[in-house]
Amino acid sequence: MSTFAKDIDQGLSASNKHTSSKYFYDDKGSQIFQQIMDMPEYYLTNSEYEILETQSKEIFEALAFDGHFNIVELGAGDGLKTNKLLTYLVHQKVDFTYIPVDISEGAMVELQNKLLNKLPELSIQPLVGDYFEVLEEEMGAKNSNSLFLFLGSNIGNYDETEAVNLLQMFNSYMKPKDKLLIGIDLKKNPHTIKKAYDDDQGITRSFNLNLLERINRELGGDFQIENFDFYSTYNPQNGEVRSYLISLKDQKVYVDALKKEFDFAANELIATELSKKYSLPEIEGLASASGFQFQNHFLDTRKYFADSLWVK
Ligand code: AVI
Repeated sequence: MSTFAKDIDQGLSASNKHTSSKYFYDDKGSQIFQQIMDMPEYYLTNSEYEILETQSKEIFEALAFDGHFNIVELGAGDGLKTNKLLTYLVHQKVDFTYIPVDISEGAMVELQNKLLNKLPELSIQPLVGDYFEVLEEEMGAKNSNSLFLFLGSNIGNYDETEAVNLLQMFNSYMKPKDKLLIGIDLKKNPHTIKKAYDDDQGITRSFNLNLLERINRELGGDFQIENFDFYSTYNPQNGEVRSYLISLKDQKVYVDALKKEFDFAANELIATELSKKYSLPEIEGLASASGFQFQNHFLDTRKYFADSLWVK
């Protein structure tokens, strides 16, 4: 049985039903996520883009590496934001190798073609696979220092314990003086955050409902999508956006791959995602809890988002 099937079984059998947000990203979910990133309400993408577009020079100077170095981007995806930093470095004739890491081979081929088309002098060595397998195999052999990139507020999708575990793992694959530039969404006016995760067009709603469609497609589920709704909340005190699907009536759903029927009561929730927001002092606390030394924050002009630089 696939890990997806096992995880869905476990999550829908729990007394508080839940699913992992990593399962949002099948082909259709990845397309909807692209639409989310293009929405004016979803300020995160533009904010981080602005930081990398206007502060590449400052970021490079803060690295203070000697000679050749690597830029290892974890979860590179379409690499659009990183483009700005890479363009700056190539134009300055800086000696570095870009190592995008992603689970999707298609995304890596596309990214390599796109970048080499624009920046033929770029030294690029894409790696396909799970972060840890790839880091385990590749990082030991590197002599030069590396800048790790973990952008897009991906860390916000982990609860605090998971976030520290993940960052400690990154840390364990890094050499002394290697650095991590991590993109983190900041606490701000709660209305702004709430709108980013509950847009009027219903794009975020379809992003969540696609998970049920995915279970139907891949696991032979018989979810009636119109019998579920989407709900999200933001708690400005702990910085947590929590997203849910709601069962609109008492219903039973059969999943063929699991040979199992799941009961849903009217108004029962499935917790689908955490998107956590941090304050600047909380980010510094996260750095030290994960074995890093905080160096500095790069912020956009609205102070919505931080790319924070940490040293091993
Ligand atoms: C990928 N991740 C950082 C996004 C976020 O903001 O939590 C996923 C997302 N969920 C709803 N909108 C965007």
